[in-house]
Amino acid sequence: MTDSWDKLYEDCASCEACELCKTRTNCVFGVGNRNADIMFIGEAPGENEDKTGVPFVGRAGQLLDKYLYAVDIPRENIYIANILKCRPPKNRDPLPAEEDCCIDFLRRQVLLIKPKIIVCLGRISAMRLIKPDFKITREHGTWIQKGNYLITAVYHPALLLRDPRKKEEMLEDMKAIKAKLDELNIKVN
Ligand code: URA
Repeated sequence: MTDSWDKLYEDCASCEACELCKTRTNCVFGVGNRNADIMFIGEAPGENEDKTGVPFVGRAGQLLDKYLYAVDIPRENIYIANILKCRPPKNRDPLPAEEDCCIDFLRRQVLLIKPKIIVCLGRISAMRLIKPDFKITREHGTWIQKGNYLITAVYHPALLLRDPRKKEEMLEDMKAIKAKLDELNIKVN
């Protein structure tokens, strides 16, 4: 089957595979450059994302924007998506069954975009995309090659809002991501 962005978007926006469809305002599909060499993948939409249909536009998203700006990676040149496309009530962690229902949309996005680098934003994304026992405190900033993709994980910006002491490590990880892009001769600006 050849996939297309239109078909993928329609499938996602009309999905009723789990209960979260009943409470969504918008499906939060993903945003950015569909030819990006680098994708950032978060956990699930929050309130502002549910309202607008765009990932990472609330407080956590604004903090992410600051890090992207700090390391000279323009947000419009990357692609940003989440593991879940619908908001869990009260922003609780995604249930494994919800992730199972939704993960195929992300897989199809990745197959269409063909990024070289994937950055997991936070532990939930890293546990799903890197390994189930990923320990974000110990293993953030490490790199693994999985198939065609070089993958790393950084702290979730929402965690940095709760624990600003981790901001220094986040900046180092983001600088290392930019250095990796440079090393691989991947232009993002
Ligand atoms: N947190 C996420 O993981 N994703 C969003 O889109 C917003 C907040």
